Amino acid sequence: MSIGKPLPHDAAPLHVTGQARYTDDIPLPAGALHLAFGLSTCAHGTITAMDLDAVRAAPGVVAVLTPADFPEMPDCSPSLGDEPLLALGEVQYVGQPVFLVVADSHLAARKAARLGKLSYAEKPALLTVEAALAAKAHFEGGPVIWSRGDAAAAIATAPHVVEDLFEVGGQEHFYLEGQIAAALPQEGGDMVVLSSTQHPSEIQHKVAHALHLPMNAVRVEVRRMGGGFGGKESQGNALAIACAWVARLTGRPVKMRYDRDDDMVITGKRHDLKIRYRAGFDGQGKLLGIEFQHLIRCGWSMDLSLPVADRAMLHADNAYHLAHVRIESHRLRTNTQSNTAYRGFGGPQGVVGIERVMDHIAFALKLDPLEVRRRNFYAESVEGGLSAPPAPPEDIFAKMKAEGFAAKAAAPGSGHRIGGAHSPKGPGPQTTHYGMPVEDFVGRALVAQLEESADYQARRAEIAAWNAANPVLKRGIALTPVKFGISFTLTWLNQAGALVHVYQDGSIHLNHGGTEMGQGLFLKVAQVAASVFGVDVAAVKITATDTGKVPNTSATAASSGSDMNGMAARAACETIRARLADFIAEKHQVAAETVRFEGGQVKVAGESFDFARVVAWAYQARVSLSSTGFYATPKLQWDRVRGQGRPFLYFAYGAAVTEVVIDTLTGENRILQADILHDTGASLNPAIDIGQVEGAYVQGVGWLTTEELVWDDKGRLRTHAPSTYKIPACSDRPPVFNVALWGQPNREDTVGKSKAVGEPPFMLGISALMALSDAVAACGDGSIYPGLNAPATAERVLWAVQRQQGHV
Ligand code: MTE
Ligand code: MOS
Repeated sequence: MSIGKPLPHDAAPLHVTGQARYTDDIPLPAGALHLAFGLSTCAHGTITAMDLDAVRAAPGVVAVLTPADFPEMPDCSPSLGDEPLLALGEVQYVGQPVFLVVADSHLAARKAARLGKLSYAEKPALLTVEAALAAKAHFEGGPVIWSRGDAAAAIATAPHVVEDLFEVGGQEHFYLEGQIAAALPQEGGDMVVLSSTQHPSEIQHKVAHALHLPMNAVRVEVRRMGGGFGGKESQGNALAIACAWVARLTGRPVKMRYDRDDDMVITGKRHDLKIRYRAGFDGQGKLLGIEFQHLIRCGWSMDLSLPVADRAMLHADNAYHLAHVRIESHRLRTNTQSNTAYRGFGGPQGVVGIERVMDHIAFALKLDPLEVRRRNFYAESVEGGLSAPPAPPEDIFAKMKAEGFAAKAAAPGSGHRIGGAHSPKGPGPQTTHYGMPVEDFVGRALVAQLEESADYQARRAEIAAWNAANPVLKRGIALTPVKFGISFTLTWLNQAGALVHVYQDGSIHLNHGGTEMGQGLFLKVAQVAASVFGVDVAAVKITATDTGKVPNTSATAASSGSDMNGMAARAACETIRARLADFIAEKHQVAAETVRFEGGQVKVAGESFDFARVVAWAYQARVSLSSTGFYATPKLQWDRVRGQGRPFLYFAYGAAVTEVVIDTLTGENRILQADILHDTGASLNPAIDIGQVEGAYVQGVGWLTTEELVWDDKGRLRTHAPSTYKIPACSDRPPVFNVALWGQPNREDTVGKSKAVGEPPFMLGISALMALSDAVAACGDGSIYPGLNAPATAERVLWAVQRQQGHV
């Protein structure tokens, strides 16, 4: 069985030898043209004049397109239709494309694009969430409010209350390969598009729409991305549309690639936000009531902001049962880049809020933060057991009704109150604040195991003693858990397809709707296919994602790539295997169920034949050796307006202990050790999964510590290159980095009983922020909560230390 084997990434040798082909490496036919956008230098205003003479006269320039050159401006939005390819008179942010240069080389296009002289009548720009809130610049007309119980009353009567405003920065994706697309015109007006995208069907759809073509006239191909991290779910649309448009206009192949600075200036990032919280709790640190207000900066257009903000609300509980809770989510339109999907898709923004609250409560009560966390965990539904039968979906609604869910839909902008006071009663699982039973909670057992393996208690005591003796360097430690919901919250996206061919020599050709961005999806799905046929994974050819082979795909996102495409591929392979089994069984006059496919052999009636031989016989006997497969995730029921139901098939869990040291004279800091225990179910590939956990943790740490996005008061992004924007480097990874997988099979029926891994471990990076908070607290007398905002850069840490010391 190749499922479960720790195989190296299939393209690893190609990656390290430079042979792996990315979109920019694919040779274009002769006569190719290259594009670059001219960008707005004004955050909000009307264009009063566009002098493009110097652009047109620049060497290599073939044409310059302005809105006047488009009979109808193509739209690039994945949601609202609010993203014209080029600004139509009014500009909405610094970096917005305003004109398009067509040249005979990439460099010529980029150089010329800088020569445009634009004048604007400036308008007031909304650059901050406060400004947008004051201007009532909400998407959806007002805040979205979900609540359960009576948070205000619970807080009013609670023995203790903490409240604060917590700022959490955004994050640049910094995929190593920037956004890129190429369009190759075909006969009869058809278009082939190569794109670095997580969502080929979206590119196909948007290009077809722009060119007024049916979708069957546009084919999109993606062999791999050099990283996507959510940044290539929607934000590659503009490049693909621009290329296709110019390819149609000129009949020539066209390519567009953003240079790093342009990429950072043009494209959206992780949503930054401000979280206002008020929490009431008892003397043991048990939460009694909690109110959150999320002020989310969406940027100039809607993009994917609504589901991102929803997911932040859905993860406001993380691993904790919130009996009385109210969450108010403001999705605010600002004159900045349009923020978008980024690993966790809003989940991290929700989780970091409640983790901050746990830290704050522990500080207020002088308790071990881990103890406070534990006191608030969801109940373990079946302690250590795996036999809990999952409730059928219809039961969930019966249960929701029994718990007093109000059935009326929310008025737009008015939010929705979910049920009365909730108390976990009887043996049934506790439910989340959106009414989903938490049937698979393993947080308690998992955290207990990590606490042990990371030697948390002893190290905590040792650090306290060390800090007491050391005035300049201070150490800190924190353990944080994660619970992350798996499935797209837009229920119909939870479907996938596959196409499998077995050739007459026994080699297998695999295609599915998922895209490869380095996460190892293609290998995992190939392992699934190989397992069905009982052959080595080397017998399976991994091929590019192609909208001509598998149609109507969802973005490779929400960490569900292997869950969904693995199942679809398995279905396709099982269809072919059943035909082979029927054929060979009949030949041997035995029942098809007795045929075995293993070790590259087909075993039937005591005999054993090479898989390839059986395939050749089947071919000659005119057995079809090709099949599609399809999968739709079961059990999902989600009402996004009312904020209730079962949006997820299951949860993935994990926990991390991070230890840091800070220099109280400079604020500089580093991680000394990280210990992680993460739940990927019965892993399809433990080597890939551990790689995902390590990478996600480090990326999560980057988000909350060194990666700082700075805009000036004109709305210009000042940190638009690696010189000023600091992602973690190899040397920033923890010198002691222990990563283990929990290893228990998924209780839901997923492919090989595995769990999704792409996003959940990102939130393990939160332990680094909390460890910094712990170290800062060690500088004071316990009277001032560190209140570290994120990213906790060296400057912020220094400031927080000085506050502890009474200097600021
Ligand atoms: N890992 C690598 N190496 N590169 C990436 O771009 N994207 C992440 C995660 N891991 C990413 C990655 C994100 S945002 C998601 S949603 C998942 O991979 C998508 O792939 P999956 O569904 O196959 O896990
Ligand atoms: Mo991942 S943010 O769902 O692409």
